[in-house]
Amino acid sequence: MALDGGLGEALPGLTVTSKVPVTVRMDLRERPDQAVERAVYFCAAELLTNVAKHSGADSAELTATAADGRVRLTVGDDGRGGAKLGVGTGLTGLAERLAAVDGVLRVDRPPGGPTVITAELPARL
Ligand SMILES: Nc1ncnc2c1ncn2[C@@H]1O[C@H](COP(=O)(O)OP(=O)(O)OP(=O)(O)O)[C@@H](O)[C@H]1O
Ligand SMILES: [Mg+2]
Repeated sequence: MALDGGLGEALPGLTVTSKVPVTVRMDLRERPDQAVERAVYFCAAELLTNVAKHSGADSAELTATAADGRVRLTVGDDGRGGAKLGVGTGLTGLAERLAAVDGVLRVDRPPGGPTVITAELPARL
C-alpha cells in the first residue's frame, strides 16, 4: 500500500496529479506509528483536494516534519481563503480523526487568503 515506504515516499505522490503546483518540504527524522502515518496521509489528501477545489491558488506548499516525538503537517496556499470547519465533512472529519490520535487541526485563514492548515500530533500512540 501507499504507506509501505513511509510518509517520505507517500506524500510527494499525492501532489503529482494536483492541478495547483505543490512544493513539498519534508524533514522526517523518525518514523511515526502506522496509525499516525495513516492519519497524516489522510489529512494531506483532503487538504490538497481542498486546495484544488476551493482555493483558486496559483501555488501551494506542503511541509511535513517528524522530530522529537511530534509530527506536523502543514498545507498552505496563496488562494482566496475562506476555509472553515463545520461546512463540509472534510475538515471536520480531519479534526475528529486527529483528535482520536491526540492531535489537533489548526485553521489559519485571514480573510482574502492565504490559507494555512496545520495538523499536529504525537508520533506514537
Ligand atoms: N484551501 C482552501 N481555500 C479556500 N477555501 C477553502 C479551502 N479549504 C476549505 N475551504 C472552504 O472551507 C469549506 C469546508 O471545507 P471541507 O473540506 O470541510 O468541506 P468541502 O471540501 O466543501 O466538502 P467535503 O470535504 O466534505 O467534500 C469548503 O467548502 C470551502 O468553502
Ligand atoms: Mg473538503
